[in-house]
Amino acid sequence: GAAVEVDISALRPGEKLTVEWRGKPVWIVRRTPEQLAELPKLDAQLADPESKRKPAELTPEYARNEARSIKPEIFVGVGICPHLGCSPSERFQPGAQPSLPDDWKGGFLCPCHGSTFDMAGRVYKNKPSPDNLEVPPHMYLSDTRLLIG
Ligand code: FES
Repeated sequence: GAAVEVDISALRPGEKLTVEWRGKPVWIVRRTPEQLAELPKLDAQLADPESKRKPAELTPEYARNEARSIKPEIFVGVGICPHLGCSPSERFQPGAQPSLPDDWKGGFLCPCHGSTFDMAGRVYKNKPSPDNLEVPPHMYLSDTRLLIG
């Protein structure tokens, strides 16, 4: 079938793994406790903090939470910007960097038109992308084996 099985046992905190699913890049990120702690503080700056927009397409029910994930530390998201389809790049380090605000908490930056996303793939307000990154359908086969699709 189209589902992809991934072993995430070697993925360490702060690291990202990319696999291909249906021709799309899917990211698996193991977030650090510090990155997770920032998520609830960002809501006021985000366009759709509770993932209410296009829920059927973008956020499965089990990911409609602050971390947009089944396990809090593991984010699974499609690495394609909902604006015009570029692939955002990770900017996990907090702090000022080119094209990012001084109080940047970590996340993703789309190189094409500057949409920014937090560590849960939630888009910041007033950016070209109206939507959060898509969370693909997924489930855990065991603690370390993930099935995408
Ligand atoms: Fe990402 Fe336009 S494609 S901001």
